[in-house]
Amino acid sequence: MLKLSHVATAVALAVAGSAAMAGEVEVLHWWTSGGEAKSVGELKKIMQTKGNTWKDFAVAGGGGDNAMTVLKSRVVAGNPPAAAQIKGPAIQEWAAEGVLANLDPVAKAEKWDSLLPKVVADGMKYKGNYVAAPVNVHRVNWMWANEAVLKKSGVTGVPMTWDEFFAAADKIKKAGFIPVAHGGQNWQDFTTFESVVLGVGGPKFYQDALIKLDQKALTSPTMTKSLETFRKVKGYTDAASPGRDWNLATAMVIQEKAAFQFMGDWAKGEFTAAGKVPGKDYICAAAPGTANAYTFNVDSFAMFKLKDAAAQKAQADLAAAIMGTEFQEVFNLNKGSIPVRLNMDMAKFDDCAKLSSKDFVASSKAGALLPSIAHGMAVKPAAEGAIKDAVSQFWNDDKISVADGVKSIAKAAAIQ
Ligand code: BGC
Repeated sequence: MLKLSHVATAVALAVAGSAAMAGEVEVLHWWTSGGEAKSVGELKKIMQTKGNTWKDFAVAGGGGDNAMTVLKSRVVAGNPPAAAQIKGPAIQEWAAEGVLANLDPVAKAEKWDSLLPKVVADGMKYKGNYVAAPVNVHRVNWMWANEAVLKKSGVTGVPMTWDEFFAAADKIKKAGFIPVAHGGQNWQDFTTFESVVLGVGGPKFYQDALIKLDQKALTSPTMTKSLETFRKVKGYTDAASPGRDWNLATAMVIQEKAAFQFMGDWAKGEFTAAGKVPGKDYICAAAPGTANAYTFNVDSFAMFKLKDAAAQKAQADLAAAIMGTEFQEVFNLNKGSIPVRLNMDMAKFDDCAKLSSKDFVASSKAGALLPSIAHGMAVKPAAEGAIKDAVSQFWNDDKISVADGVKSIAKAAAIQ
């Protein structure tokens, strides 16, 4: 008869053996809308095919504010997930805490340096070492439109300027539709705001005011004009928008209740999941006045230091999968974004993705490739939060004058 201690040893060996083969990878993300969940489901499938166990750690809340709060408490408790959806300057902040893993062995083996635009690769590195893996490139300065609603309202052609936009919005309102579908979180307000600033002031102004946080630009007549335009847009939203999730606003456009939405191309993931086709059911166009510029939002997963060898192996598999051609294609087809990996075949992508790809390259050459502030690409999280709050206060309270709105946004930007 086996002694109990032998049984325990045998069990331990069996467990260790299976763990070495199949590591668990816990992944924190906020992809919970229809299109988002389909997209992340593809990553799960790829990881499972490699023999790993996927532990889903989804925290609902567009833009990721809730997810970041939950992440902090897990890391403080000494129990981080293997990977978390972290992007932009926040990657550097987490790395500076000393909690992120070094992904150089995977990155070197898979030649990431030669597969990524340098600006993206640099953002994934801390002190020269890769600590995060990039997923995609989302364009933020889009305007989505329902083709049938435009037709029924007598709007011909997509508005290219803000004046054309307001003329169209008047017709749409008259025809009984909601001109602008909008939701109610501060990142949604800012997504619209940064497109308005870009459309009104152009790329150089966007850079000075929202990235450099230059006080002169922030208090200039162009900022006044931007806030006037922003407030005017609000006049075309419906009274039920406060508190609404972004994907429910997209659904209003899909269901012919509303004409337009200003949102990044994760909105296209919702149209795709609903079986809608661009050019037939809906239109993707740059927000008025922004056709020659591109605000980008690169999703990425930062990886945390783990002790267990099997978990480390699964983590390395995840990093390699994210940058692999299979994932880059299938994920981005569902998500609405374009691959971040260079030289990918775009044959299966739709016209919106092809336009995004073309404009990405053109804007980069023209110096109009700009990081999105709303999506954590440009400004450190603390500064970003303060400016977002000021913009949302202005959006939500019509009693705040434009002059006071300008002052409070400039003040929020100055405390950094
Ligand atoms: C993320 C997208 C996501 C969107 C809505 C953005 O900040 O980059 O991946 O789909 O928020 O949740």
